Amino acid sequence: MEVKEYVKRVNDAVEYLKGKISESPRIAIILGSGLGGIAEAVEEPISIPYSEIPGFPVSTAPGHKGELVFGKLHGKSVVLMNGRFHYYEGYSMKEVTFPIRVFQLLGVEVLIVTNAAGGLNPDFQVGVPMIIVDHINLMGDNPLIGPNVDEWGPRFPDMSEAYDKDLVKLALEVAKELGIKVFQGVYVGLAGPNFETAAEYRMLRKLGADAVGMSTVPEVIVAKHGGLKVLGLSAITDKGDPDNLQPLTAEEVLENAERAGRAMAKIISEVVRRL
Ligand code: HPA
Repeated sequence: MEVKEYVKRVNDAVEYLKGKISESPRIAIILGSGLGGIAEAVEEPISIPYSEIPGFPVSTAPGHKGELVFGKLHGKSVVLMNGRFHYYEGYSMKEVTFPIRVFQLLGVEVLIVTNAAGGLNPDFQVGVPMIIVDHINLMGDNPLIGPNVDEWGPRFPDMSEAYDKDLVKLALEVAKELGIKVFQGVYVGLAGPNFETAAEYRMLRKLGADAVGMSTVPEVIVAKHGGLKVLGLSAITDKGDPDNLQPLTAEEVLENAERAGRAMAKIISEVVRRL
């Protein structure tokens, strides 16, 4: 798609949404697989299906809805993305990150991103959240490839602090106060859709990753390009143990994501309250 056409599509979506909401959101929250529960805590919700928004892609993955939910959390104006677009579904990187551009132009300053991920760090436990401190892009693509839209961000964006250090600190503090166990670590993003082989899990450990998944990296790259601060949380849904690899199903991932998701919802709610 031509960059001009992409910019127009984003602007059309933004104009449409502005006509539907009374207040611009400051915080956007992407709900990953099995993490839709947070949506129920939103007050005065206005749900808008993706299919209604001009230019917006439509989601197909299991366990994912397809709607934006505008409203309030602890009096803060938020927008929730209930269902994301994955690269493995066949969307281009520009489509995967389309909502992030819309959030940027709506005035969002903080992006909170969640996902389900396989645990690589041998200390990690299934059902326990990981606060993301950094990422490795192994998706083989990048949403910023192509002509740069200078009004949206710089050609060569800095990634020295992709995940905001203050937000990581806040999330760790909140988890401690709430008595919720969390890990922290590096997320590596792969294209998927297959889960990894034992040799791949072994390699990813050696590369310095603590958790592996099939999302998040493109959204975070675009959010940083657009000047947003990012907080990321992974639900650890399985153990990517190369020496004792057990068969893994999407059902198992969803079930364990819901378990970690309950803890993540509490952390996110309290983080938002303190923002
Ligand atoms: N690998 C990749 N993506 C995942 C995994 C995994 O082990 N678990 C949940 N999402």
